[in-house]
Amino acid sequence: MSTATEKTAVDKAEEYYNSTPADEFYFKIWGGDHIHVGIYNHSKESIKDASPRIVQMMASKLKLNSNTNLLDLGSGYGGGARYLAKNFGCQVTCLNLCINQNDRNRDLNKKNDLDHLITVVEGNFEDIPFPENSFDIAWSQDAIVHSADRELVVQEVVRVLNDKGEFIFTDLMQTYDCPKSILKPVLDRIQLDSLGSFGFYVEKGRKLGVRKTEVQNLSEHLTTHYQRVMEETQDRYDEMVESCGKEYIDKMIEGLKHWVEAGKNNYLSWGIVHMNKSDIC
Ligand SMILES: C[S@@+](CC[C@H](N)C(=O)[O-])C[C@H]1O[C@@H](n2cnc3c(N)ncnc32)[C@H](O)[C@@H]1O
Repeated sequence: MSTATEKTAVDKAEEYYNSTPADEFYFKIWGGDHIHVGIYNHSKESIKDASPRIVQMMASKLKLNSNTNLLDLGSGYGGGARYLAKNFGCQVTCLNLCINQNDRNRDLNKKNDLDHLITVVEGNFEDIPFPENSFDIAWSQDAIVHSADRELVVQEVVRVLNDKGEFIFTDLMQTYDCPKSILKPVLDRIQLDSLGSFGFYVEKGRKLGVRKTEVQNLSEHLTTHYQRVMEETQDRYDEMVESCGKEYIDKMIEGLKHWVEAGKNNYLSWGIVHMNKSDIC
């Protein structure tokens, strides 16, 4: 039974990303713009080079222009938002729990002269602070994983999208046959209780009135990505220990090994889920 003092998934995500070691780790290892799985041309490619490809791939599935009103859920440092604003002129609203990341996001938007197109809002995607019919597109990269109620997130997105709205996202997920013993240390690395799956999102979309959901399975990149994150952390071990502390980095490397192993054994999934509220698209 839960108690009033028990931490929710939202509290845990906020505490996790707002901590200085986590902020330093993600900013330095991912390269300061994106914090998501990349699309790798080869197994030794840099995380920074692989990261933007998934943003481009997602954007290519949409019809974006300067009239597009887009909501980015769990927007991190805003790398995706800046790409969309710069290349398509979209009006982007970034919704994110983490104050440190939001500050970095606002600074980077100003430096890139994109702050007139991007608004950064502190908030929780389980309770989106906008009225219904506010957006044409909802977008999210590797963030819904942090929710303990992913159906509620999809429900909230469906509410704030207009009638022809589309929801496109990537998420870190599991396969249906992932054993509990493999899943446990995977979840522990980022303080989660569960993972979603492609099937879960397709079913919840249908239940919530979404007319069409397409998935693109890109799971092979998840394994390459966590292998690269692990190698980068090991190669820069002294620097990272200085920034984040030895305990944090040693625990992170252990946790990453579990992600790589689970990925290699095909127990984890990652890819694009694209929902259309209307079947005219
Ligand atoms: C792995 S990072 C991805 C960041 C960004 N989407 C990107 O790809 O660069 C996960 C993000 O989800 C955000 N997040 C987690 N739970 C959230 C919630 N309930 N509401 C809003 N943001 C949340 C975190 O603050 C973090 O920015």
